[in-house]
Parts: sequence; C-alpha cells; structure tokens
Amino acid sequence: MIYLRAADRFDALALANLRAASLSELGLLPNAEVDAFALQAMRGFVRLFTDDRLIAWIACDDERVVASCCAVFYERLPYPDGSRHAELCGVYVVPAYRRRGFASELVGEVTAAACAGGARKTFLRPSPSAKGLYARHGFVDTALMVFEKKPLPVEVPSYPILAASPGG
Ligand SMILES: CC(C)(COP(=O)(O)OP(=O)(O)OC[C@H]1O[C@@H](n2cnc3c(N)ncnc32)[C@H](O)[C@@H]1OP(=O)(O)O)[C@@H](O)C(=O)NCCC(=O)NCCS
Repeated sequence: MIYLRAADRFDALALANLRAASLSELGLLPNAEVDAFALQAMRGFVRLFTDDRLIAWIACDDERVVASCCAVFYERLPYPDGSRHAELCGVYVVPAYRRRGFASELVGEVTAAACAGGARKTFLRPSPSAKGLYARHGFVDTALMVFEKKPLPVEVPSYPILAASPGG
C-alpha cells in the first residue's frame, strides 16, 4: 500500500538516499561517490531536523520510501510580516512511481506546512519540466538572480619544478 506522511529525523537515511539518487540522475554525483554522499547527507538531514529548520513529506510503498519533498527554513532581514522564508527542495520520485500524482500531493503538503510554519514566502528552483507542477500549486516565476561560488582554481607554482636526481 502506498501512503504519504510527514517525515522526521528517523527518516534521515531514506531522505539522504533519495537525495543521492536525484543528484545521480541529474549527472551531478558520480556513481562511485553515491554511498559516501548519502552518509554525509544523512547527517545533514538529522542536523536540519534537530535545528527545526526542515519539513519533509515522503511517499512510502509499504516500508520503502519512494518519493520526497522538503522545505528548508531560513531567515531574511527583519520585515513587518516576519523574516522567516522557506525553500522548497528535494522533490524526487523514484522513476517507477512517476506520473501518478505523488510529487503534486507532496508539494501541496509541504507548501501548506511551510506556510503553517511561518514562511512568508516559499522559493524554489524548478527543473524546466517541473514548472507546470509548481505553477498548479500557485508558484509564480520571478526574476531571482543567483551568484554561484566558483570552485577555487588549482594553484600552479610559478617556479619551475625540479626533478630530484640521484645524488643531486
Ligand atoms: C519532477 C518529478 C518530481 C515529478 O514527479 P511525479 O510524481 O511524476 O509528478 P506528478 O505525477 O505529480 O506530476 C507529473 C505529471 O504527471 C501527470 N499525472 C499525475 N497523475 C497522473 C496520472 N494518474 N496519470 C497520468 N498522468 C498523471 C501530472 O499531470 C503531471 O503532468 P505535467 O508533466 O504536465 O506536469 C519527477 O519526475 C522526478 O523526481 N524527476 C527527477 C527530479 C526532478 O526533476 N525534481 C524536480 C526538481 S525541481
């Protein structure tokens, strides 16, 4: 039987595995790094739950967690209506369970929970194919600009590297 429920910190490993699967599917996580990343991600999910900064809903097929949707709370500058915002993220459905409305139901639950949790606005970065899904839940396109930290350049020594030679 498939059912939806709110997740808690005991679901951290399942959420981390879905996160790893999602990044892997997007080509952002090499297969060889999936297990190590999932462990690191599990700690991250536990920390977010402990800090009361995470809402997550999951779909379960009996014991197996097959879909997720999360919202992470963060603070912006003080504002008359409150400074708490949320980012909707971690929307992922295992391929065999897609196009059955699970993402839509989870997005509805998490958006409502983010509002109930005090988020004045909820943002997300949609993949192009998922825009319709979010639009049906009332999300609108805005001109949000993003600055991404670049990876540090590898330092190349400016002096010649000398090979050690026997006796030298
Ligand atoms: C994007 C994603 C989360 C959608 O999950 P999903 O559970 O298939 O989503 P839904 O079933 O709620 O809706 C998907 C589509 O199926 C349709 N659908 C829903 N129930 C259906 C049913 N019973 N029969 C046929 N179609 C159905 C929906 O109308 C929707 O149509 P659209 O493509 O025109 O928007 C999923 O494909 C996924 O995990 N992709 C990889 C990760 C990703 O891109 N995440 C989003 C990042 S922003």
